[in-house]
Amino acid sequence: MKILLTNIKELLQVRDTAPNKVSGAEMKELPTLKNAWLLLEGTLIKDYGTMDTLSITEVDKTIDCKNKIVMPTWCDSHTHIVYAGNREQEFVDRINGLSYQEIADNGGGILHSAKKLQETSEEDLFHQSANRLKEIMQLGTGALEIKSGYGLTTEAELKMLRVAKKLGESFPIKVKTTFLGAHAVPSEFKNNKQGYLDHICNKMLPEIAKENLADYIDIFCEKGYFTVEDTHQLLSEAKKYNLIPKIHVNQFNAIGGVQAGVEHNALSVDHLEVITSEDIIALKNSETMPVALPSCSYFLSIPYTPGRKIIDAGLPLALATDYNPGSTPSGNMNFVVATACIKMKLTPEESINAATINGAFAMGISETHGSITKGKSASIIITKEIPSYGYLPYAFGSNLIDSVIINGELI
Ligand code: NIG
Ligand code: FE
Repeated sequence: MKILLTNIKELLQVRDTAPNKVSGAEMKELPTLKNAWLLLEGTLIKDYGTMDTLSITEVDKTIDCKNKIVMPTWCDSHTHIVYAGNREQEFVDRINGLSYQEIADNGGGILHSAKKLQETSEEDLFHQSANRLKEIMQLGTGALEIKSGYGLTTEAELKMLRVAKKLGESFPIKVKTTFLGAHAVPSEFKNNKQGYLDHICNKMLPEIAKENLADYIDIFCEKGYFTVEDTHQLLSEAKKYNLIPKIHVNQFNAIGGVQAGVEHNALSVDHLEVITSEDIIALKNSETMPVALPSCSYFLSIPYTPGRKIIDAGLPLALATDYNPGSTPSGNMNFVVATACIKMKLTPEESINAATINGAFAMGISETHGSITKGKSASIIITKEIPSYGYLPYAFGSNLIDSVIINGELI
């Protein structure tokens, strides 16, 4: 199937040869073509140009994009979209004064979601997660990473990862999976964290590797969860199975997780609401992508990742949703991009780069996603009629998406 988009007001993120990421001052540059056409053939981007160069006539479908902007779909490199039920009650508890950490200390939080997920069948879990996935595809997400971590038993972690993998097989959206067994210490191992870590290393990791269920390894490196030493143990063990780290660090405290991630060549270090100058130096000497999750900061009323400081230090930055039932029950990348502009002082160009090309890097799919480049996946957003791309974060509460094509399929 050949789809031709014509009269595009502005085609964003056009890269003839795409870099795998953009850093520092480069993030301010968003290459575009005005008054453009774009040809999609099957699942791939075939060609593009300005309207004065258009000579293609034989296509299956033509879409007139007059006054509309076209851009690559969002790459959401950090989600926990496979979960059961919700944590609406904790939301109300927080309104009434309890903190996120107090709720977790009282047996709520991640452990609550784990209990719920353990009781949910694989079929039901798939159904609940597929509904969320369908919604985010409509919102312009064309690729996402999905973590386990609400199972916390071998059986339930395998169930989560099988569901995540099946989502990728059932929908045109690209899915990468991450094993996050070290998300919290389950009650069976209360006061025996080392026992749980050993269980992850000796039992869970081999089974997950045997079924080839995960691309990446994650750990919640945070006070009250897992230490830097635990992180070293897990990441060293995961390396034996070729699982690359993408880890939760510095959400509430900077305890050295960034350095640990960098030491193990992490693809990304995510959260970073708290960041020290040592963390910045460690990242400067690495290929690791810092990832900010502004809708988590919004929902929990915690500090925003100092994205301005990170970019001004010459580093790259990616943006993701963190879609999960506890800290971010939202998978809306449009809101993330707007919030990064409004609260983290990123320019629209920086924010769009962070949510496309750098998001693709943070989930290891730079070759196929993140830019309008010949041969990359035919995954694009067509906006409604808007005055400019800056209008997307500016009009932050509006749905400005007209249609979405993912891997050649109209959603
Ligand atoms: O990334 N911080 C760790 N994990 C998730 C939230 C977990 C939860 O509250 O369910 C996050 O925010
Ligand atoms: Fe997360």
